[in-house]
Formats: sequence, C-alpha cells, structure tokens
Amino acid sequence: MYKIAVIPGDGTGPEVTQEALKVLQSASKKYGFEYETTNIDWGGDRYLSTNEVLPENASDSLRKFDAVLLGAIGHPDVRPGILERGILLKLRFELDQYINLRPCKLYPGVWTPLKDKGPEDIDFVVVRENTEGAYVGMGGVFKKGTPDEVAIQEDVNTRKGVERCLRYAFDYTRKRNKRNTLLLCAKTNVLTYAHDLWERVFNEVGDKDYPDIKREYAHIDATCMWMVKNPEWFDVIVTPNMFGDIITDLGAMVQGGMGIAAGGNINPEGVSMFEPIGGSAPKYTGQNIINPMAAICSVQMMLEHLGEDKAADAVDKAVAWATSEKLESMSAGKMGYSTSEVGDLIAERIAS
Ligand code: IPM
Ligand code: MN
Repeated sequence: MYKIAVIPGDGTGPEVTQEALKVLQSASKKYGFEYETTNIDWGGDRYLSTNEVLPENASDSLRKFDAVLLGAIGHPDVRPGILERGILLKLRFELDQYINLRPCKLYPGVWTPLKDKGPEDIDFVVVRENTEGAYVGMGGVFKKGTPDEVAIQEDVNTRKGVERCLRYAFDYTRKRNKRNTLLLCAKTNVLTYAHDLWERVFNEVGDKDYPDIKREYAHIDATCMWMVKNPEWFDVIVTPNMFGDIITDLGAMVQGGMGIAAGGNINPEGVSMFEPIGGSAPKYTGQNIINPMAAICSVQMMLEHLGEDKAADAVDKAVAWATSEKLESMSAGKMGYSTSEVGDLIAERIAS
C-alpha cells in the first residue's frame, strides 16, 4: 500500500492534480497496486490566511510517505519568491532531493517549434543537480541601495554533492539504455574551480565505474544551441542546478510546451516529489481549460519511481495515444477537450 502525499497547491494546480489522481486510480485498478492519498493544503491561500508559508516540521511530516505529488506553487497575491523559496526549494533541500529529473520527450502529434524535428529526434533526459549551486542562498549584501552596493551570491559545489549527482546520472543512462551516452553540460572555460570539479569527478567516476557509458561534454551556451538545432544528439544530460533550470525550460518548449513537461525531485534514498514543471497559471484557474498532461506525466514518473513499471508504461502509452489521436493542441483552451475530459480520456484508455 503506497502512501502518497498530495499537495495540489495554487492556481490551476488543484485542477490538474485532480486529473492526475484520476489517472492514478485507473492505473491502480488495472495493475493491482494499492495506495492511499493524504491531501495537504500548502500554498498561497494557506499563506494568505495564516501568514505561515509552511507549518513547522513540514518536511518531517512528508518523510513517512512513499512519494509526494505536487500541483503548482505560485499565487498572484503573494510577492514572487516567497512561496517558491519557502515551499518548493525548502522541501527540495530539507528532503535532500538532490536530483531533478526532467525528461524532454516529444509525444506524437504534439507541435514543436523546431522545424523538421519529430518524436524520433526529441527524446532526451536532463539530470539537474537540485540542492546546490547558486540555489543554496549563501552570500550577502553590503551598502544595499547605495551606489556602492556589493551583492555576492555564492555558487556552491561540493565533492559529495557533485559526485552523487553524477553517479545518479551514470546509473540512469545505463538503465535507460538508449545510446548509453552521458553529456556533462557546464562552463569549464570560465568557472575554472567549480566546473573543473564537475569535469574531474565526471571523468574519474566514469573511468572507474562506468566504462560502458560514453562521455561527452558541452558548454551551457553550446548545449542551448544544439538543443534547438540538433536535439537528436542528446541522450542524457547532467548539469548543475541553475543551468538545469534554464535548459529544462528550453526543453519544455522543444517538447511542446509547459502543458506536457513533467519532472521529479528525487532523493534515491528518501522521499521524492513529482510535479508538472510549469507554474500555477492563475489566469486559467477554475475554467477547466488548463492542460493536465504534465501532471499526468508526473504520475507516470512517480509510478516508474515506485517500481510500478507496467502501470507507468500504460500511462505513457495512453498519453501518446491521446496526443496523436485526440488532442488538437497542448495549449490551455485549445485542446479540443476540457481539463477533466483529458483526464477521462487517459483514465479510460488505461482501463480498456
Ligand atoms: C523550477 C522552478 C523553480 C526553480 C523556481 C520556482 C524556484 O523554476 O522548478 O524549475 O528555479 O527551480
Ligand atoms: Mn525553472
């Protein structure tokens, strides 16, 4: 019996989460696994009424679950940054979810802005380091608001943090078994301390424990270029936190938009959290027009993580069926179906 914590969150988060849960239920009936969900109200509305971003012991309370399903965080009435840092980043850090796994896969029938590229060209995975880099919030400000202001924000890279991320990426590349090629995306020509560490550990660990995995390297700027021009060159990309943040938004566009991009915040030894990577899209709230596919794809990732491979595969196939046979677009209001109808389509396809 899996224990799943559900944080629907803000804006359209609750609507897409409802469809994701519909799909989870259908998969559980068909593939015979059991689960129970616990609903958690963290998000902008709770913050506005209680003045508290997260309750005390929030992350501890999540440790007893097998996985967390997150809708979206971000509220139009809350100053940007408060909820993102106070909820999303805090949970990632405190639960030590040191991997942010973000597949970039173009499903059949989905429009991509890349001319002449199809599903066979766009199918790679980004392994983003998720607990270090510029995100740790180390640094400070001096003479703030004056012409002499000094602002320093450190980019923190630890041997341990870098190595565990790289090892995860190597293992993932091996398990994926597509082209058995792992590309390190960094900026070694400029970040001569931090990314030198990444490069050395990449080669050291690769030589020692992953001789079967081919290693490649590209700078972040070149990676952006190839992601647009030759996305078929990529199998698995491993990259530091901030670079991963940036290239996965580019990846989301390449795979058809925020409506379909999902990710997992993973602690391989602890509790992991799955989420659509787009925001809360508040302007579409309550209209039943937002695309729930990204949330549904995050359920697919959660099932794979839990070891329910058959169920995960069934969700993946149902999504591919819906994108190729049913949905007219991935954009809110243009799908040809409502949010709940898309959930029904996928759930019924799995059941059939
Ligand atoms: C993401 C988001 C977050 C990040 C923000 C909301 C802090 O952009 O999940 O990619 O930068 O990691
Ligand atoms: Mn981002």
